[in-house]
Amino acid sequence: ADKIIIDTDPGQDDAVAILLALASPELEVLGITAVAGNVPLALTERNARQIVALSGRTEVPVFAGCDAPLSRPLVTAEHVHGKTGLDGIALPAPRLQLQPRHAVDFIVETLRAQPEGTVTLVPIGPLTNIATALQRAPDIAARIRRIVLMGGAYFEVGNITPAAEFNIYVDPEAARIVFASGVPLVVLPLDATHQALTDRAWVEAMRALPGRCGPAVASWTDFFERFDREKYGSLGAPLHDPCAVAWLIRPDLFEGRQINVEIETQGEFTTGMTVADWWRVTDRPANALFIRNLDRDGLFALMHERIARLP
Ligand code: BDR
Ligand code: CA
Repeated sequence: ADKIIIDTDPGQDDAVAILLALASPELEVLGITAVAGNVPLALTERNARQIVALSGRTEVPVFAGCDAPLSRPLVTAEHVHGKTGLDGIALPAPRLQLQPRHAVDFIVETLRAQPEGTVTLVPIGPLTNIATALQRAPDIAARIRRIVLMGGAYFEVGNITPAAEFNIYVDPEAARIVFASGVPLVVLPLDATHQALTDRAWVEAMRALPGRCGPAVASWTDFFERFDREKYGSLGAPLHDPCAVAWLIRPDLFEGRQINVEIETQGEFTTGMTVADWWRVTDRPANALFIRNLDRDGLFALMHERIARLP
């Protein structure tokens, strides 16, 4: 199995991503690291523990990481995810302790302890923890197998500003460090993830699953759908973050190009933009596989099949 660390700011779509990973034998989740993003860290780490407890996989450790971006105040997204970040269903207090170690220490120590090139990082929130690890321990860059992240947008552009996607916008300095790290990157931007819209039949099939995880997914996506319906008039909730996990399991469901992507940190209107050289008009070297399209039905069939395996 592919060893992964999920770095996350749950988030209903983060929650589905985590469940998808925990239900998939192709992946070995070494740990889950929480970061401030959709809501402050105290909530994201608690939400992460609730999700892991829900999955029954309480042996998977959860760590708390950075509580603010590298050099900016935190911007949150309660307008999308609700006050707790995981609104939609009331979950019991998590039966899972937070690990005492800082998430960044866990990331660094795990990468040093595991054989070189065997651990994939899967960031689905702002990149603060990952950038901090790379800054503190530059030796880990060569040890990371690859980074498969949800973030950015190019043709579809922004969901938090006209030019920027939330995860990159919250900590563009961190994103710049990650995109300049030389680690192979796979980027799932809004261009792809806005194709990953739930539909009624899928949500009702989740709700009808016999365990507790399926109905939780249905309640989360129902809550999450409101924002996109009001904002974009689209039907369905975009399951952004599960795309990153799904790429690891079924890369054949996705298509993109190996291109250069730079992060705007200074723009008057474009801070946090992922400037993607899709048409290769520069000679800047490619640093990312930038995903543009996905097989929507294949993706949802995969998520159904996997979440049905959970308690
Ligand atoms: C990203 O921002 C968050 O609100 C979601 O969880 C996802 O990671 C989408 O822009
Ligand atoms: Ca997220």
